[in-house]
Amino acid sequence: MLVIAALPAVWSGTAAAQTSIVGSAEMTRYESIADLRLRPVIDSVWSVDAPAPGLVERSGRLLQVTPIRGEDGTPLEEWVIEQGDGTIIVVATREGDTVPGLRTSVRVRGRFEGEIETRARDGVVRQWPLFVARHVEMTPSTGESNVWLAAVIAILAFGVVLLRRLIRRGVPVPIGSGSASRFDSRTGSGVGTTPEPMSLPSDPVDALEVLAAGRHPSESSSMHRRRLEFEHASTTVLVGRGLLSRAGELITGAIGREIDIRAFVGVDPGSGGVVEATHLPSLIRGLEGVGDVVTSTVEASEAAKSMSGVEALWDRMLEAGVDRRSVVVALGGGIACDVVGFAASGWMRGVDLVLCPTTLLGMVDAAIGGKTGVNRRLPSGGLGKNLVGAFWPARLVICDWDVLRTLGDREFRSGLAECVKHAIIDGPDALSSLERELPGVLERDPDVLARFIDRSAGVKIGIVERDPREAGDRAFLNLGHTYAHALESRTELGLAHGEAVAIGLVAAGRAAVAAGLQSGSAMEDRIRALLAEAGLPTAVRGIGAADLDGLTAAMRVDKKASHGRIRLVLPRDIGDVVVVDDPGDSVVRAGWAAVIDPG
Ligand SMILES: NC(=O)c1ccc[n+]([C@@H]2O[C@H](COP(=O)([O-])OP(=O)(O)OC[C@H]3O[C@@H](n4cnc5c(N)ncnc54)[C@H](O)[C@@H]3O)[C@@H](O)[C@H]2O)c1
Repeated sequence: MLVIAALPAVWSGTAAAQTSIVGSAEMTRYESIADLRLRPVIDSVWSVDAPAPGLVERSGRLLQVTPIRGEDGTPLEEWVIEQGDGTIIVVATREGDTVPGLRTSVRVRGRFEGEIETRARDGVVRQWPLFVARHVEMTPSTGESNVWLAAVIAILAFGVVLLRRLIRRGVPVPIGSGSASRFDSRTGSGVGTTPEPMSLPSDPVDALEVLAAGRHPSESSSMHRRRLEFEHASTTVLVGRGLLSRAGELITGAIGREIDIRAFVGVDPGSGGVVEATHLPSLIRGLEGVGDVVTSTVEASEAAKSMSGVEALWDRMLEAGVDRRSVVVALGGGIACDVVGFAASGWMRGVDLVLCPTTLLGMVDAAIGGKTGVNRRLPSGGLGKNLVGAFWPARLVICDWDVLRTLGDREFRSGLAECVKHAIIDGPDALSSLERELPGVLERDPDVLARFIDRSAGVKIGIVERDPREAGDRAFLNLGHTYAHALESRTELGLAHGEAVAIGLVAAGRAAVAAGLQSGSAMEDRIRALLAEAGLPTAVRGIGAADLDGLTAAMRVDKKASHGRIRLVLPRDIGDVVVVDDPGDSVVRAGWAAVIDPG
């Protein structure tokens, strides 16, 4: 829900006019940015000519005009920038033809109170300055005051506090680091005068991040932020670059405590020890000043993803004096996130958990959704994947995609399998966009990657939020996984999880045809081609018809099986997957037939 507390518009007039809107105005609460009652307020902001969205610099300050659409497309377009001295610049635009060189600007002198955050249904979180406005004036930056019909405004005291603690303490939180004196509050907003176009991220939150950092956005420093709400908990998911070295600040922000935090970091050393050597120091640097940091290694293998791995962590936690005020942090791939997460869930009946996934799969899947756990040996000698576990959502997930530069190609591609799965579940647009962006993703193009990770994680967030306990839709995320887990139980095949999932996706496509859910091979062909382009296997060598009984038996002990009956998630179409209980032997075997490579 979006809650906005807005001061109603009380003024419209010419550029020179001013009015006080504080004190006389009553606070109004709006449930959504699309609230129709907001329209007159928004409309009152408008002059006839619409200015172009964009960014200019003025006296070392960046001012951004960004269109922000309401949920129903309402053209609420405005930007609010605190100037460091407590004055606020509000830049408001309306969609339409642009008039080069002309910007509408409204200056509001106000008191900055902190920030609030709003959250859309897909978990995207936006942060806004929360302030109380005092005076309003409007200046046409071109000097052509005749073009102005009227305006503006009221502004806004947005509700729902992000920086609650800061607001509680009454500490003003400047956005922008420059000194107040650098901005000349008498000479207009600066928007449109001596414009020096720059490119800020189009997402307002990202742009705010850049503005807050007070630096020229010469390199991408954007951070995507989403939040996943559970009944009694929430997870903030951050995707950005260089976040590990800001871990302390991000963690204290997320858990609402500032100092004296004992951080227990379970670290997966990474291939050749590279995570421990390269990324752990960034994390430790980021935790400086927060409190003691103790680290312990976690072996990243399915065999070590076991109760004894968890017990080893518990022993280290005991030695390190980890208590309920501590934060347990995982740095590593999906295995480390699962093992450390499970250890955190049981330690003193649960301590705050922060996950710092270092694989693509960890970022888009394993770290999100609250599932933690370990494997268990099956009587057959195979591995029962994730049979023991707990639901223990992380308070914070830090996806610093910079760490992916050290990730091996195979592991990186393995993560792509879950992204393909998410896109199939999400729908045709998501799948087409993945197909389009795949080359950039494979090149690990920074701009493509950040957006891609955020979007794929967003699919999981949306589904988990609808069904955290897997009573319904969350089961969709098991698309391809019943086959995958059976393959993974055969450890001698040496398949990475994502590779097994890729094969499982193809098998599920064929099984869907056998189950009569779709006809023809168009979907299977498309998925196969996409996975192949991603460098993922679509068939498995080393098993034959003789192995099918054993694999089918492994499917029956999968956690998703019910009373020994196999449960499959099958695609009826892109964006339309269904759960099929007890699909029958012929359907299951049809899936296997699609992926057995006799060669
Ligand atoms: N909890 C969940 O909801 C969930 C969801 C999906 C998968 N999982 C689990 O996740 C696990 C798979 O995770 P994964 O694919 O991340 O594999 P992984 O954790 O085994 O990591 C793969 C390899 O990459 C190394 N590595 C990790 N980050 C690195 C980096 N930045 N640079 C270099 N090397 C690095 C690791 O040491 C390991 O050798 C499985 O056990 C699966 O069951 C859990």
